[in-house]
Amino acid sequence: MRDKVKEIYQEIEQYEVQSKEQLDQFRIRYVGRKGVIAELFEGLKQVSQDDRRLVGQELNVLKDFAQQRLKEYTTTLEENQNQETGPVPDLTLPAIPNQYGALHPLNLVRQQIISIFERIGFSVADGPEIETDWYNFGALNFPDNHPARDMQDTFFVEKKSEGAPADMLLRTHTSNVQIRLMERQKPPIRAIMPGRVYRNEAISARAHCMFHQVEGLYVDKQVGFKDLKDTLYHFVKEMFAKDVKIRFRPSYFPFTEPSAEIDISCQICHGKGCNICKYTGWVEIAGSGMVDPNVLQNCGIDPNEYTGFAFGMGVERVTQLRYGVNDLRLYTENDVRFLRQFQGA
Ligand code: DAH
Repeated sequence: MRDKVKEIYQEIEQYEVQSKEQLDQFRIRYVGRKGVIAELFEGLKQVSQDDRRLVGQELNVLKDFAQQRLKEYTTTLEENQNQETGPVPDLTLPAIPNQYGALHPLNLVRQQIISIFERIGFSVADGPEIETDWYNFGALNFPDNHPARDMQDTFFVEKKSEGAPADMLLRTHTSNVQIRLMERQKPPIRAIMPGRVYRNEAISARAHCMFHQVEGLYVDKQVGFKDLKDTLYHFVKEMFAKDVKIRFRPSYFPFTEPSAEIDISCQICHGKGCNICKYTGWVEIAGSGMVDPNVLQNCGIDPNEYTGFAFGMGVERVTQLRYGVNDLRLYTENDVRFLRQFQGA
């Protein structure tokens, strides 16, 4: 019996516990009510009266030893687990607020423009940024060698392979989409066309080689200049302050006749004079006019039956006036201090 006690003592000394399963096995084998030590206690009855006291003492020592070992293994196992998952955090601490992103201001304003026009029945159309001369100029009534082509410093695309079409360019305005739309859709047409455009300009606070426009087109029977005025009045009142003033200035575009540039009262200084309105109190936001009959004809629409108005506005300019952004370069620099200001806007 005493040998058995000794043997189990050594067994426990050598026992290694590395996992929860091993710990359970240890407990069942040595500490449990049906374990080997409990069994030895049972056997105590058979031990002779003389030896019983001594063996009993030894058995108690063995039992204590097993229990102590169990306790030790349990705590080391818990500590190891904590190291793996880290300490339990203080659950009463306030939550760390989520960092929400913000829409880019140009995206934000583009969506605002779209939603104003969608509510009055305009759909949204899209077209390519790499265009042929015909869609960007020819179909829009720019005659070959017309000086108006110089007004828009064009990036031409180099012809690399034999099969590639000649005269490819980066579109200088979104007016190309008007043509593509009128070619594939019969009137009535009522659409806006947001997109990116390119011009060969040096980058500065006031000019960029890449910017955004939203084109508008309404072609139907008996569309008049009054409809153009009504639509744009509605737009500026929705986009800017309710007391915004608007004026139409006669102008020239090859694709519209008559043509007008649209100014609104300066939303930055409200007429007091600032460098954005160049101390005039007025800022230009769009070009517009009645679609030239030649343009309708180029797209297979009979100008004797249909008329239309068109306009094109700069998204950067609208954003500048809406949010007071005074440097075009901010839009492309990706400075988070700038972008964060539009969170929740
Ligand atoms: N395409 C012109 C530009 O980029 C803007 C414009 C003027 C668009 C008059 C139009 C329009 O549709 O009718 O300067």
